[in-house]
Amino acid sequence: MSASKINVAKQAVSYIADKLTPNMILGIGTGSTVNCFIEELASYSNLFKGAVSSSNASSKLLQSKGIEVFSLNDVNGIEFYIDGADEVDKNNNLIKGGGAAHTREKIVASAAKDFICIVDKTKIVDKLGSFPLPIEVIPESRSLVARQIVALGGIPELRQGVTTDQENQILDVKNLDLSNPKEMESRLNAIAGIVDNGIFAFHKPSVVLVSEV
Ligand code: 5RP
Repeated sequence: MSASKINVAKQAVSYIADKLTPNMILGIGTGSTVNCFIEELASYSNLFKGAVSSSNASSKLLQSKGIEVFSLNDVNGIEFYIDGADEVDKNNNLIKGGGAAHTREKIVASAAKDFICIVDKTKIVDKLGSFPLPIEVIPESRSLVARQIVALGGIPELRQGVTTDQENQILDVKNLDLSNPKEMESRLNAIAGIVDNGIFAFHKPSVVLVSEV
């Protein structure tokens, strides 16, 4: 675990600690920064009810820390959603999905009152798009989708050896014009066969915490 990820994880715990209540459900993202957050959160587990998780990996870690994991179907609302990102621009638009979990991450983020994004300084960018955009696709539609992405100017590459928690595949796409993130997020999701793409322009964080080290 890097010092910067631990630092921002501690900032996030400080941010929510005095707001936790016995009936509160937290939303938890996926990735190495979130793993640091879960470690820091463990000692506060008696101060809230439990969590909705965005991946099987995070669910396992949460449960190992004694934090109860609920299905999104079984909760009424989520107060805070805490997650990392692969890129964050100055308007808090994100690229996510480096951990192949962006579909469920976006769902849980959309259910939360507040999305707190936790990143180290390397994730802050002037313009989205250096990090290849992850797109989750239904396996049967992969080639069809890839051709339509090429028509939009993208260069898709199948992420080898990875299937998502939903048993789908990931195309990592370079060269797309992300200068209007909302437009590209909508345009991609209109292609049949795409489950979701990793642009978070409609479900942006309300708070971005950046590591101080
Ligand atoms: C997973 C994600 C992660 O939040 C993103 O990849 C950042 O991960 P890390 O904290 O390991 O750098 O979107 O799908």
